[in-house]
Amino acid sequence: MNIRVRQGQIQKQRSAALIVNLFQGARPGGAAEAVDQALGGLISAALDSGDFRGKKNELLLLYPGRRAKGFTAGRVLVVGLGKQADFDLEIARQAAGTAARRLQDLGVEEAATVLHGSGAGSLKPEEAAQALAEASLLACYRFDHYRSGDRERKVLKLLTVVEFEPGKLNPIRRGLRAGAEIARATCLARDLGNHPGNVATPSYLAGVARRLARQHGLRCQILDERAMKRLGMGALLGVARGSVQPPRFIVLEHHKKAGGRPLVFVGKGVTFDSGGISLKPGDKMEEMKFDMSGAAAVLGAMQAIAALGVPRHVVGLVAATENLPDGRAFKPGDILRTLSGKTIEIVNTDAEGRLILADALGYARRFNPAGVVDLATLTGACVVALGHHASGMIGNDERLAERVRQAGEYTSERVWPLPLWDEYREQIKSDYADMKNTGGRPGGASTGAALLAEFTGDYPWVHLDIAGTAWNTQAKPYIPKGCAGLGVRLLTQLARTWKK
Ligand code: BES
Ligand code: MN
Ligand code: ZN
Repeated sequence: MNIRVRQGQIQKQRSAALIVNLFQGARPGGAAEAVDQALGGLISAALDSGDFRGKKNELLLLYPGRRAKGFTAGRVLVVGLGKQADFDLEIARQAAGTAARRLQDLGVEEAATVLHGSGAGSLKPEEAAQALAEASLLACYRFDHYRSGDRERKVLKLLTVVEFEPGKLNPIRRGLRAGAEIARATCLARDLGNHPGNVATPSYLAGVARRLARQHGLRCQILDERAMKRLGMGALLGVARGSVQPPRFIVLEHHKKAGGRPLVFVGKGVTFDSGGISLKPGDKMEEMKFDMSGAAAVLGAMQAIAALGVPRHVVGLVAATENLPDGRAFKPGDILRTLSGKTIEIVNTDAEGRLILADALGYARRFNPAGVVDLATLTGACVVALGHHASGMIGNDERLAERVRQAGEYTSERVWPLPLWDEYREQIKSDYADMKNTGGRPGGASTGAALLAEFTGDYPWVHLDIAGTAWNTQAKPYIPKGCAGLGVRLLTQLARTWKK
């Protein structure tokens, strides 16, 4: 989809469809009023009938026919913005996404739209434009690589934002560009998650990282098993032993010359998690292809940050492996030696994410980071605690946590704090090694993070447990079913607003 801005009046656009909006309980104003008048009060009539009220994401589709002279658009789609007092950036995103998706489903290939919320909604034009571009692209996302029929379906190819005030055009152009880059990167992350485990292997992720580096001028280093052995990444290598797919450790670096301490993002990249010897039950096991969603978020964020030329030194680290049972697989009772030298007794091979992250967080120390954020589908316990409505957040630094919280608030990728008390550390004490890899069922999200905390050294660190938020089983206004691409927008927002 190509998204652009043009100066003009929306009711005069020659387009297959025009998108305008309406606050709940309000009469048509601005662009909607101009369209309503051109159509001889068609929108007002729908409001008067009570059939359409402008509730959040409510749609009214009208066919002007030959009713109005000089009106050349084939359709008018009015999208409800809800009550004006409740309006915000997220409602603007949802409105744009809902409208674009409906038109694409109808087979409309080209449309013109107003910018939601920059008038009476009081959003800054640049922000409103970013939200519109982001959500329109994200809502029209389809994963059609493996369904022969889907590939022929029509897509919305061109969306033109029509703005009357010339002074707003440049900020809108900037916002559209940023929104489009961020959405593209989010769709990359979704693709990586949605591809099945037999395609999106650790080597596949490494190949994607190399391509990103080439296309966007990132520095890229891929560690293979030999390099991991030399460094002593015994935890990542231990998890990988059960699979014939070799593990990969990915290092992507953006804008090293900015100097200073970098922001480091770390992603869990378990491309399929069967549980290993501590095998998971079969029900829904296919969903464990999404167990690399943290890695997908980091790769997507690195693409967006590079494409936008964010003037900061940012590093992306991905630990990628499968977790499978095999005669050579690691097993309960085994003790693994991590990169930092600390040892971990395995009591459950299904607690593999924290093991590979132990090596990745240890590796992060060499960058002397200003902050480290890891994203991982780490625990079922986090899903029990928060459901699918927020990612769990645990860390060792209040300032970094507050920045991450604000970034998530802005992008509507909500995070919620969970504790990291000493008692959780007690739970993972081992009789045979420096720690064991699970602390039992109670407080599972916190004991998982307590293990990670053993490897962060003294840099500011925040862990996001995205087990409940990484993929959707029910579609949302601009997040279809499947991998959500969650975290790309949050990390990009964090990097763009980062100040030393
Ligand atoms: N990838 C899973 C966590 C998970 C479960 C994510 C469900 C999304 C949905 C992780 O590797 C895992 O298996 N965790 C175990 C840890 C336990 C053995 C201590 C869990 O949560 O059950
Ligand atoms: Mn597991
Ligand atoms: Zn896992």
